[in-house]
Amino acid sequence: MNRSEFARRRKRLMQAMGKESIAILPNSPVRQRNRDVEHSYRSDSDFYYLTGYAEPESVAVLVPGRPAGEYLLFCRERDPLMETWHGRRAGLEGALERFGADDAFPITDIDEILPGLLENRERVFYTMGCNSDFDTQVMAWIKLLRQKSRAGVHAPGEFISLDHFLHDMRLYKSAAEVKAMRTAARISAQAHCRAMQVCRPGMMEYQVEAELLHTFMMGGAREPAYPSIVGGGENGCILHYTENESVLKDGDLLLIDAGAEYEYYAADITRTFPVNGRFSTAQRQLYELVLKAQYAAIKQVRPGKHWNQPHEAVVRVLTEGLVELGLLKGSVAALIKSEGYRKFFMHRTGHWLGMDVHDVGDYKVGDEWRVLEPGMVMTIEPGLYIPAGSKGVAKRWWNIGIRIEDDVLVTKEGCEVLSRGVPKEPDEIEALMATGRS
Ligand code: GLY
Ligand code: MN
Ligand code: MN
Repeated sequence: MNRSEFARRRKRLMQAMGKESIAILPNSPVRQRNRDVEHSYRSDSDFYYLTGYAEPESVAVLVPGRPAGEYLLFCRERDPLMETWHGRRAGLEGALERFGADDAFPITDIDEILPGLLENRERVFYTMGCNSDFDTQVMAWIKLLRQKSRAGVHAPGEFISLDHFLHDMRLYKSAAEVKAMRTAARISAQAHCRAMQVCRPGMMEYQVEAELLHTFMMGGAREPAYPSIVGGGENGCILHYTENESVLKDGDLLLIDAGAEYEYYAADITRTFPVNGRFSTAQRQLYELVLKAQYAAIKQVRPGKHWNQPHEAVVRVLTEGLVELGLLKGSVAALIKSEGYRKFFMHRTGHWLGMDVHDVGDYKVGDEWRVLEPGMVMTIEPGLYIPAGSKGVAKRWWNIGIRIEDDVLVTKEGCEVLSRGVPKEPDEIEALMATGRS
């Protein structure tokens, strides 16, 4: 993503904030994994969205209308010894030259400098409650200013959460963001195709996971957007299964929910396929029902439809199908009203997708579901989950967990399925799996 994209975002946010205001965005803290080992570092999405800066120990400050510079970055200084041990740093020079900051300061000086920036600003835009250490620091700066009131210093009177403006901006993807998301989806689709081709009874779930990660990285995506779910048979009925440590069994289905992160944008794709390459009759019946529900939902993704319409379509199709197959008993209308389908479909049909896999943005405006508009990206992911021992359910349906998840961009004309590079028609899946076996 080029520098002008980040500059444009900062400008838009500052316009929305208005003069006499200041925004403060701390980056995420480094998290320890175990002794002397840290989790791989990933900038906070809000912070990165506005800066493109990926080093820890950094704070961005936006001060609209400040004559000496509106965009300030507090960050680590260059340090040859630390850089020899731990890696390169952009330093203050890099913050100015490479990241477009108007001014840059050492992060170690923030307590001296930030109170002065808050002075005589009316409104502080800051997201409270995400980083309690930093919350305490912000409060200490305000307290300091209040103590100086007799010297004529005016402390800000209003605190506003940054979420409202920023998350609304993030909900509408620009052309550059859509490009990154298309790439994330394309790489992830390749990984799912690869998993279908290599899968064999007797493999471990984590060995299939290894193929996914390999394809992500070979495609240019260094990390998955979230821990991959690779669940065979009954494990496919656990919605957030991530152990991925069982043997894949002949006759079972395999549910894979995995997506790459590319340039800080996520893909989120689920496919379900037979471990041995052939759907059984019961598996295919349920699979075709979930697929029918997914198609019905995708039809509801276009400008003017509201957020919940895809979910309503899924609920209707699944409930009708479950009654037809004898898995639910009663009238379709009554089962929808009583949410009887939740026994087998207990999650929602999707979520916004972007820099975070469960991305930001409101789903309702006031009491009304949000109306879909071009540039929004969402997942469509109906499923059915029938663990062994399900009461009142014939044995042939047991251990079947199916989810089919695609990433869908709302366009002017309707929608674009970003993740279309991996098949979901059962015949196409079987054909692709066969190519891996010849
Ligand atoms: N992979 C997380 C989700 O589908 O929501
Ligand atoms: Mn998913
Ligand atoms: Mn999802």
